[in-house]
Amino acid sequence: MREEKAEPARIVVLISGSGSNMQAIAEACQKQNMDAEIVAVISNRPGVPGLERAQQFDIPNEVLDHTSFATREEFDINLIRAIDEHSPDLVVLAGFMRILTSEFVRRYKGRLLNIHPSLLPKYKGLHTHKRALEAGDKEHGVTVHFVSEDLDGGPNIIQAVVPVLDDDSETTLQSRVQIQEHIIYPIAVKWFTEGRLTMLKGDAYFDNQALPESGLQLNH
Ligand code: GRF
Repeated sequence: MREEKAEPARIVVLISGSGSNMQAIAEACQKQNMDAEIVAVISNRPGVPGLERAQQFDIPNEVLDHTSFATREEFDINLIRAIDEHSPDLVVLAGFMRILTSEFVRRYKGRLLNIHPSLLPKYKGLHTHKRALEAGDKEHGVTVHFVSEDLDGGPNIIQAVVPVLDDDSETTLQSRVQIQEHIIYPIAVKWFTEGRLTMLKGDAYFDNQALPESGLQLNH
């Protein structure tokens, strides 16, 4: 849990691409929906739109190009250094397309969040919308979860469920899910910065109550 501080909570956001979730969180901070500030955006890919979005919000942003490092371990050690320069209370993965080393995950244990476009534990990994369509699912959605050493496996915090329509394509389903991403990620970040959200022994707690496996569910 974040210690009570007079200063706004310091958030570092890691991105690899569009950065629309980062923007949703930046907007929530700007509207003073929460006492928090994105102090840095770090991308592992140069030239991505998310960096431009960060500039538009006057958020310090930097690139740490993973292709400049020989190994995953070396990249992650340098990423830790770059993140720790900003003394974050919370590290937010927002479309950060890298598998993280255990060392990295352990370093930010309990203060590392991710958003994954499926109703976890369903469809860990990639191509989640396609997989939901191919399976004939009637419902799909998105999950914000604490990050553990298991890929897409940490305890769930909040999920938004959306219907899958008969004529959905991957694109239409993805857009419907993304609208929800921009709602639930700022909510989870706000809860964390208010000290309401904690991870203890691999489980997520909200206001000291263990959350169900799905996390809190929003239905649409
Ligand atoms: C989102 O769909 C998120 O669920 C997934 O990566 C995508 C990132 O989108 N983890 P953006 O970069 O935030 O626009």
